[in-house]
Amino acid sequence: MVNAMVEINNYSVQLGKFKLNQINLNIGEKEIFAVLGRTGSGKTVLLESVAGFYRKFSGKVMIQGIPVIDVPLEKRNIGFVYQDFGLFPHMTVFDNITYGLKIRKIDKGVQKERVDKMAEILSIGHILKQYPGTLSGGERQRTALARALILNPQLLLMDEPFSSLDPATKENMYDQINKIHDIFGCTILFVTHDFNEAQRMANRIGIMVNGELKAIRKSTDLFERCQDEEINQFLGSNYERSVHE
Ligand SMILES: Nc1ncnc2c1ncn2[C@@H]1O[C@H](COP(=O)(O)OP(=O)(O)O)[C@@H](O)[C@H]1O
Ligand SMILES: [Mg+2]
Repeated sequence: MVNAMVEINNYSVQLGKFKLNQINLNIGEKEIFAVLGRTGSGKTVLLESVAGFYRKFSGKVMIQGIPVIDVPLEKRNIGFVYQDFGLFPHMTVFDNITYGLKIRKIDKGVQKERVDKMAEILSIGHILKQYPGTLSGGERQRTALARALILNPQLLLMDEPFSSLDPATKENMYDQINKIHDIFGCTILFVTHDFNEAQRMANRIGIMVNGELKAIRKSTDLFERCQDEEINQFLGSNYERSVHE
């Protein structure tokens, strides 16, 4: 593998009854990696762990060789797109996007320049003055992406980023993400319960079952049968479909 952007070694975290158990995963620079799992399997907890949101854990999460929790929050250089997009409802699209720049006291002119560039890339120039409540799902998604990317992060984390979008908007967003990946050269880690989406977007896919990363596969080999019945079962109906197609 080329240089690792993310290295997770024997990482475990206990949250109530749930345990994210002994995760080991390396993600290369500029890789697009998907974690695939059912609801409740621990995908969000894994993403939040990579972002360094938890304090009580065992093992390690390193970003470019440095433990993520050793880096102050504002210097982590990680973009996070939340499942429900997490936009601030009382702020315009422009203010949502520039939030991270404002708290870092970046010059107003530079803020405007950066937003203009982002608006062009994500085609959101026409909605900058609107409030999140007035946007379509796709526009909300693009706003959330712009906000996550405005600081030019080396790592982009996305939690089920396409799950609330209709099929046509999803297709459009897949293209947008690829474009973003090309332009920004960032590493992307996203989680999803959608097999098709994982295969479509990622180079490699991790299979998460009950808090464990059971397997890591190339997207093209996702449905290969193996000795582990839990994995076979998880891939089950999709496996049948893929061999009959
Ligand atoms: N802070 C917490 N305290 C207790 N349990 C939690 C906490 N966060 C998540 N969980 C539990 O951990 C499990 C995995 O959650 P999550 O990562 O959100 O799953 P997924 O994103 O795959 O649907 C769930 O059962 C959830 O209720
Ligand atoms: Mg989740």
